[in-house]
Amino acid sequence: MTVSHALEADVLRRQDPELADVLLGERERQSSTLQLIAAENFTSPAVLAALGSPLANKYAEGYPGNRHHGGCEIVDVAERLAVERAKALFGAEHANVQAHSGSSAVLAAYAALLRPGDTVLALGLPYGGHLTHGSPANFSGRWFDFAGYGVEAESGLIDHEQVRTLARTRRPKAIVCGSIAYPRHIDYAFFREVADEAGAHLIADAAHPMGLVAGGVAPSPVPYADIVCATTDKVLRGPRGGMILCGGELAERVDRAVFPFTQGGAQMHTIAAKAVAFGEAATPAFAAYAHQVVANARALAAALAAEGLIVTTGGTDTHLIIADPAPLGVDGRTARGRLAAAGIVLDCCALPHDDGRGLRLGTAAVTTQGMGAREMRFVAGLLASVLRGGTETARAREDVRELAAAFPPYPR
Ligand SMILES: Cc1ncc(COP(=O)(O)O)c(C=O)c1O
Repeated sequence: MTVSHALEADVLRRQDPELADVLLGERERQSSTLQLIAAENFTSPAVLAALGSPLANKYAEGYPGNRHHGGCEIVDVAERLAVERAKALFGAEHANVQAHSGSSAVLAAYAALLRPGDTVLALGLPYGGHLTHGSPANFSGRWFDFAGYGVEAESGLIDHEQVRTLARTRRPKAIVCGSIAYPRHIDYAFFREVADEAGAHLIADAAHPMGLVAGGVAPSPVPYADIVCATTDKVLRGPRGGMILCGGELAERVDRAVFPFTQGGAQMHTIAAKAVAFGEAATPAFAAYAHQVVANARALAAALAAEGLIVTTGGTDTHLIIADPAPLGVDGRTARGRLAAAGIVLDCCALPHDDGRGLRLGTAAVTTQGMGAREMRFVAGLLASVLRGGTETARAREDVRELAAAFPPYPR
């Protein structure tokens, strides 16, 4: 089943043309603009097929072989496949694939290990911590006592000394490592050592690098963390959703923290789609893809720096780049708007040790489309030219349309 089959399905068009137009409009937007949002990717038609399957109809509270609903014998197979594939892919003793999202996975990890009021150490929000790492707007900041570590002003790298000092002085119950914006590999062995010294659990929130881990191009947190939380989308290229990995000794606590503690019935169509994505991620083709994602990010980072943007940490180890466009005379928020008008879609984000906003870019989606270093250099040049005002928005929009058309995400 191809995407065009799914989206142009006569039945939807006949029954609900208004919504059919929305789906087609979004497909057109995705295929005619550049998706540089670091958290996005294009799932395979096989993943989309699982998402749009009758498994969406099934209620399945509980776990395979122990459900609160009848008729689960077939969806149980899907969940067992997803669990077994996740365990094999990441070398984990236990996998829970029911978390509805990355945030739900983190919530369940906290529920498994902590009590309300416990102290937790995590990367501070201005330095790239996620909302679930102690934001006052999130359950995490309201229910736990978070202390934030940061990055060094000069290098932009995690301030390991500060982590060690905070762990000694605050005696946290858990330490979280992971970020929405950190472009470098995380030293999981260091965090394990600090957690052990403080008597704390280590939670790796590896939502961003998990696909790179699967592809063998980033270090794995699995041997070091008590619990690894992740999303199944982003570089991993599965459906929007969450996943939790842990050792056998925490398996039951983690499973109970997901259901019945924080969630109800599992979403079986999404779990089937996760199984499909894990199957894809175990192939040599995916490993080659993951390596190309990083090569593209490095090429893009270098080209942006050559255009005058300030790239934090001086580059990237991953799919993710944080760049300050200020030297081009524009702040991140304005830059995002101008680039969006030209069809270059990306996020702005906090800049460490700076009041301004930067740009966050990722290469997962454009790499799935088949773009390489040459296209990354072209994109960097176009982006900088738009920000400097050297290229008219309409002209840039045409260039983007042409480039995107040469790399269709879902070739017909
Ligand atoms: C580090 C990290 N944790 C948690 C999440 C939350 O994932 P979700 O949006 O699926 O809840 C994200 C999402 O980007 C993330 O990057």
